[in-house]
Amino acid sequence: MSNDLVRQGYNKAAENYSSKRDQFKNNKYLEQLVKLLKPSAIVLDIGCGSGVPVDKYLVNKGFNVIGFDISEKQVELAKANVPKATFEVRDMSKLKEDEYKVDAVISFYAIFHTPREKHQDLFKKINSFLPQGGYILVTMGAGEYEGLEENFHGTKMWWSHYGAEKNKEIVENAGFKILLDEIDIGGNERHQIILAQKI
Ligand SMILES: C[S@@+](CC[C@H](N)C(=O)[O-])C[C@H]1O[C@@H](n2cnc3c(N)ncnc32)[C@H](O)[C@@H]1O
Repeated sequence: MSNDLVRQGYNKAAENYSSKRDQFKNNKYLEQLVKLLKPSAIVLDIGCGSGVPVDKYLVNKGFNVIGFDISEKQVELAKANVPKATFEVRDMSKLKEDEYKVDAVISFYAIFHTPREKHQDLFKKINSFLPQGGYILVTMGAGEYEGLEENFHGTKMWWSHYGAEKNKEIVENAGFKILLDEIDIGGNERHQIILAQKI
């Protein structure tokens, strides 16, 4: 049910969100990931949104990008914005183990739109997509929160996340070694950024 609200919300808010998206500067984190990846590595972006700026940045660096998003509108925008990447409509809550075979998984500002009780399971699935030594770069909620906002870019929106300590535990329990864990305050919001490597 919450997934439907989120999907419909982003279908409605996609263009407005994109026009304001630049406030979150992710380049310093992406640069760190890029340094670790082999040339032409395959990167999966979970909750890719409109593909801009993150997937465009990675494609321009020569990586192969696969992205998916629960919102049809976001996927339509992503296909137009980053034609060299591959995008599809998918719900991250329905991922199955070993479904992808990629070198890195990224997810910016998306996991916290899914029920937090399922985050541990999600990271275990993500782990199964990677080789030993593969990387993840994700943003999570900085503090614990679950609830509905009535006016997020003109629509209802829902979040569900734990705080930074518990998020770190979830990532470690899923079989990753943390390489970077910090609170990013870009755009006057606080998000936890985790870069980690599969053990
Ligand atoms: C805040 S936007 C961020 C988009 C993009 N990652 C970026 O950095 O601009 C969150 C995205 O997560 C997507 N999303 C939310 N729940 C999802 C789910 N269960 N499966 C896949 N995508 C989801 C939304 O549709 C939305 O496009």
